[in-house]
Amino acid sequence: MHKNFLDFSEKAILITGAGSGIGKATALYLSSINAKLLLLDINEDALKETLSLCNDQCDYLAIDLSDSHGIKIPVQDKIKTFGPLDGMVHIAGIPYLSPLKTLNTDTVDKVLKVNTVAALELAKIFTKHKNYKTENPSIVFISSVYGLVGSAANVAYAMSKSALHGITKSLAIELAPKHIRVNCIAPGFIKTQMLDDVSGSFDNEYNNRLNQLHPLGLGEAEDIAYGITYLLSDMGKWVTGTILSVDGGFTAQ
Ligand SMILES: NC(=O)c1ccc[n+]([C@@H]2O[C@H](COP(=O)([O-])OP(=O)(O)OC[C@H]3O[C@@H](n4cnc5c(N)ncnc54)[C@H](O)[C@@H]3O)[C@@H](O)[C@H]2O)c1
Repeated sequence: MHKNFLDFSEKAILITGAGSGIGKATALYLSSINAKLLLLDINEDALKETLSLCNDQCDYLAIDLSDSHGIKIPVQDKIKTFGPLDGMVHIAGIPYLSPLKTLNTDTVDKVLKVNTVAALELAKIFTKHKNYKTENPSIVFISSVYGLVGSAANVAYAMSKSALHGITKSLAIELAPKHIRVNCIAPGFIKTQMLDDVSGSFDNEYNNRLNQLHPLGLGEAEDIAYGITYLLSDMGKWVTGTILSVDGGFTAQ
């Protein structure tokens, strides 16, 4: 008799970006398979809305992940009351479209802090003794196809996401002796608020090309949630240091 790998009733997972898009879809899916969730986001109203749709073991923490020095204490305190974690997924992220000549250093700094430095800070907290459970602990980061391939006017976002690939591989090696797995998903374009926000800056031709860039069409937030679930689950117990493309074929071309 095989174990039911999609029964998460023994698993506690921290999810950032849980207020919207991929983070919210991931929270709702993991909640539906009985995971106990600690939901993080900067938007407290959105967090409350997600929480209201989750099972009653879930909790939330409103936090600004761009404040790198302000992450450790509130998250550590929250885990103390919430209990140790089996997994952590850093989904919160912000886009920044700008050509090189108008690139604003302060904005680049903020993009790096939310997309990349917060991933490191959270991994540091997760891997602290007593914050994680020892049976198959798993960290998942969310990058982008633009961490793998180039696109114009996207240098800051690409830098923040390709850095996650280096972090994934190095941490996978560093944490393997503790049996903590570290993986990353590089999504293609998903129909979320973020896509609505950035598609206004694309010219018509690029917007028209978006579908052609994805042989399977644009993705749904749930497509990423399912990939995350695999990497968190015991089905993925021998997978570490992987950048998993979940992109409808974008990077196959
Ligand atoms: N949507 C896409 O097409 C797409 C494609 C590739 C990668 N991604 C990546 O997937 C992740 C989620 O994207 P999405 O489309 O769901 O975006 P979204 O904008 O719908 O959700 C992002 C969430 O992050 C939260 N957030 C933003 N800044 C924060 C901060 N400083 N502190 C805490 N929380 C903060 C927001 O409040 C929001 O709830 C991002 O990392 C994004 O780069 C998205």
